[in-house]
Amino acid sequence: MKGKILITGASGFIGSFLVEEALHMGFEVFAGIRASSNKQFLTDEKIYFAELDLSSQEILQEQLVSIKQMHGSFDYVIHNAGITHADNKKDFFTVNCNYTQNLLHALQRSGMQIKKFVLISSLAAYGPGNAKTFAPIELWHEQIPISTYAKSKFYAEEFIRSSNIFPYLIINPTAVYGPRDKDFLQFIQLLNKGIEPYIGNNQQMVSLVYVKDLAKAVVGLMDSRHVNYSYIVSDRNDYNKEELGATVKLLLNKRTIKIKIPLLFVRPVVSIVEKLSLFFFDRLPFLHSEKLEEISCPNWLCDSDQLWNDLHLKPGYSLEAGMKETIGWYKENKWI
Ligand SMILES: NC(=O)c1ccc[n+]([C@@H]2O[C@H](COP(=O)([O-])OP(=O)(O)OC[C@H]3O[C@@H](n4cnc5c(N)ncnc54)[C@H](OP(=O)(O)O)[C@@H]3O)[C@@H](O)[C@H]2O)c1
Repeated sequence: MKGKILITGASGFIGSFLVEEALHMGFEVFAGIRASSNKQFLTDEKIYFAELDLSSQEILQEQLVSIKQMHGSFDYVIHNAGITHADNKKDFFTVNCNYTQNLLHALQRSGMQIKKFVLISSLAAYGPGNAKTFAPIELWHEQIPISTYAKSKFYAEEFIRSSNIFPYLIINPTAVYGPRDKDFLQFIQLLNKGIEPYIGNNQQMVSLVYVKDLAKAVVGLMDSRHVNYSYIVSDRNDYNKEELGATVKLLLNKRTIKIKIPLLFVRPVVSIVEKLSLFFFDRLPFLHSEKLEEISCPNWLCDSDQLWNDLHLKPGYSLEAGMKETIGWYKENKWI
């Protein structure tokens, strides 16, 4: 056995792949979930379930002490639990930032001897790249997050860096796609219906990573000697915004009607919908003004060479290969 690893947010899209990869690599895997979590992607009998209440440092500490008494200390923690969408902006800080602090303190107070604490942050925590030069976002760039989500991830990073509780790694993945993901699914469902929507007419460049490559990289980093460091993760390719649509269309074998909606039109509509949603339902709609500004930034290219060089690995999936598996899974599971 390679050691005991706790993976929080194990029931989600990325978390469930981290669990699979860690099992595959020979770790004793503790899937951090909450009582309400759906375990449909956590079916391997080798998984130990750790029901954790990240909202309360005291309860969390008790839960961790009891796990330690029964199984011993975790060697590694991948803190992946987090929210990318919220009803309320302050929830981003509560879940992404405060819960990270709770987990770190509770692990420390329960006497866990953690060799590496890994935070799954986001490329968004860097903020977009230069819109004129289209130079990729680099590890050494100043982090200027623009949305509340991105700021909450950045503050969680800052807390880890400054608290110096355990040796840490911070992972900044670009947009992740793959089976079980519900975000790209919405775009793919539209393409499947023959509609290919784009916001804005401007040039936009993005980076992407297939979830299995991300999981392989993150779990692979447990063995590396590098600590107290950040890594940007992508598949190392640059895509213009229409390449994703073109690849999906080809794989779906569909003809589509391209609809390019000008940002000048989308902005006021999104703003009105947001105001109405907040007024009547007291919650943010799925696409709100901040999210729109973030996703429509022209440059989300990034440089992940450091990661793949340190791992002595190459990403295993091209966009076409990753999307082929993703669409196959969506079809098999009747998501499209
Ligand atoms: N998807 C991307 O493109 C992307 C890109 C960069 C970074 N990330 C980061 O990757 C991580 C995982 O994202 P994902 O896309 O896999 O999202 P996801 O499918 O929504 O999974 C989120 C996970 O976090 C757990 N979680 C959410 N709120 C929680 C709370 N209040 N208490 C305890 N657990 C909670 C969820 O548990 P339940 O199942 O119980 O709800 C779930 O297991 C996040 O930290 C996100 O910021 C994602």
